[in-house]
Amino acid sequence: MNPPLTSKLPRVGTTIFTRMSGLAQAHNALNLSQGFPDFSPPEGLAQALGEHALRGHNQYAPMAGLPRLREAIAGQLALHRNVAVDADTEVTVVPGATESIFCAITAVVKPGDEVIVLDPVYDSYEPAVELAGGRTVHVPLRAGSFDIDWEKVEKAISKRTRLFMLNSPHNPCGSTVSARDLDILGELSQKHGFLVCSDEVYEHLVYDGRTHCSVLQHPVLRSRSFAHFSFGKTLSVTGWKTGYCVAPPELTNELRKVHQYVAFVAVTPVQHALADFLEAQPDYPTSLAGDYQRRRDLFLTALSGSRFSWTAAAGSYFQLLDYSEISDEPDTELSERWTRELGVASIPVSVFYETPPEQRVLRFCFAKSDEVLLKAAERLCEI
Ligand SMILES: Cc1ncc(COP(=O)(O)O)c(C=O)c1O
Repeated sequence: MNPPLTSKLPRVGTTIFTRMSGLAQAHNALNLSQGFPDFSPPEGLAQALGEHALRGHNQYAPMAGLPRLREAIAGQLALHRNVAVDADTEVTVVPGATESIFCAITAVVKPGDEVIVLDPVYDSYEPAVELAGGRTVHVPLRAGSFDIDWEKVEKAISKRTRLFMLNSPHNPCGSTVSARDLDILGELSQKHGFLVCSDEVYEHLVYDGRTHCSVLQHPVLRSRSFAHFSFGKTLSVTGWKTGYCVAPPELTNELRKVHQYVAFVAVTPVQHALADFLEAQPDYPTSLAGDYQRRRDLFLTALSGSRFSWTAAAGSYFQLLDYSEISDEPDTELSERWTRELGVASIPVSVFYETPPEQRVLRFCFAKSDEVLLKAAERLCEI
């Protein structure tokens, strides 16, 4: 007889990213679904990883991360955000932002607590809230612009609101928050006493002259937020699964209590290689926006003869395309059909909503080579 098993996550299946990447592979489609670059990381990084492994950096690093990497991270925040952080008490190196987001949620959400998420919402947040015994309260972003509707947010706040999940630049929408958004969030968090979990993994990918607005730069939010970052995104090494969380000492302390029993540490030679790179090329992240903006523009220019409509992504490496002029098929069906028949894989956006609105949009990742972007656009123009 099988042991009795009641799933703690009955509504969770395999993620859409795994499913669409699997389908893309099965049909040999151009994979613009899952968010990862198909080009090499910056020169020297992979070599440094190999060298550190060969040199014997193969045992556990300190739980909070190698001191030299944490110092390099503090240096990055000073250089790119003009923010001072204490590398010992406020920076934790983690095996990917997914892990630190999970740890932050687990550390502060208690049974019965409510967590506000903005739909469409990145898929890892809600399961973490549910496992902590909390409940997500979904507030949709404004249709079309994907801006935050702060009136709706304020209505969703209750006495039980413990945490607000922010994601900018946004996956899947490619939208970004403004300094004014952070002011409003700061006021609301102070007035209602909730904390903020800010997912900033695409911090360096902001376009058309915009600058990234981090909770770390905001005086109120700085004192009540966890901010999560990913070297996978910044250094094109998503498979290295290494990132960091920055939070005030009190929050960092609680995060580390969970982190030490979830993963305990991030991978040692990877941390050494990242520290080498950041020490040698602290300015590297400033080159990213121009490079990704060029890829976005290449893709969109090549689509100019198509029947899609769009607003160019303000940030992230995702571009939404509205296909309402082409088809009224649901996005979940269309993305699968186009993967099979057209050989272009994308991500349906409706799966990131509690209640999907009447919209026809697919997400395409433009962290791809020029050749792949042009080929995909050519096929999309044929529809
Ligand atoms: C919005 C967002 N947050 C977090 C992550 C996960 O980052 P990591 O690979 O560092 O766990 C991703 C990866 O796609 C993402 O898009």
